[in-house]
Amino acid sequence: MKVTHIIKVKYMDPVKQLMDEHRVIERLVDILDKIIEGMENGVKVSPELLMTNIGMLMECANEYHGGKEEDVIIPYLEETGKTELKAALVSFSNEYDACLKYISNIFGVMEVYASGDLGVAGKIVENGRKFIEVVRPIFAKEDEAVFKVLKQGLSKEELTQLGEMIQDFEYSWNGPLINNYQKMVREMERDAGRIIW
Ligand SMILES: [Fe+2]
Repeated sequence: MKVTHIIKVKYMDPVKQLMDEHRVIERLVDILDKIIEGMENGVKVSPELLMTNIGMLMECANEYHGGKEEDVIIPYLEETGKTELKAALVSFSNEYDACLKYISNIFGVMEVYASGDLGVAGKIVENGRKFIEVVRPIFAKEDEAVFKVLKQGLSKEELTQLGEMIQDFEYSWNGPLINNYQKMVREMERDAGRIIW
């Protein structure tokens, strides 16, 4: 019997993946919103849930997604002369970085909160609210101003090339990948649902 193996290498759509990552980040922000809402209503939210949520948000948004934009997308836009898109992406990235001060403020009091001192809950709520308010619109705006425009302007070959570069980043990344994050976020949504509302 003759068996023919057809090996078809199909790279993911790199632009779609970056936008899918935005959706995962938004869902993590939505969970943070529910946690903060619970704290505003006097619920003693477990420090573990809060820390797991913020930890995953920072890893996924800053290192996995942000690392890809910084190491792959920005240099790609630079090399291919797409200076307006590059400037827009850098500007959104700076806007995002500016929100991180609120997360630092939360980290600053987490140990006290974890020790059972609810006196710092107000500080967590205040900084969490500010972070959510400023960070939430960034991803959809970035999709419109950068990624949808980029996708329209790229040929099939260019998309494949960019897909290969994204694939290289994924190979060197030793944390969770997009489908792992999607699953973990789903579990966190369930956990947060049970505890808070
Ligand atoms: Fe992004």
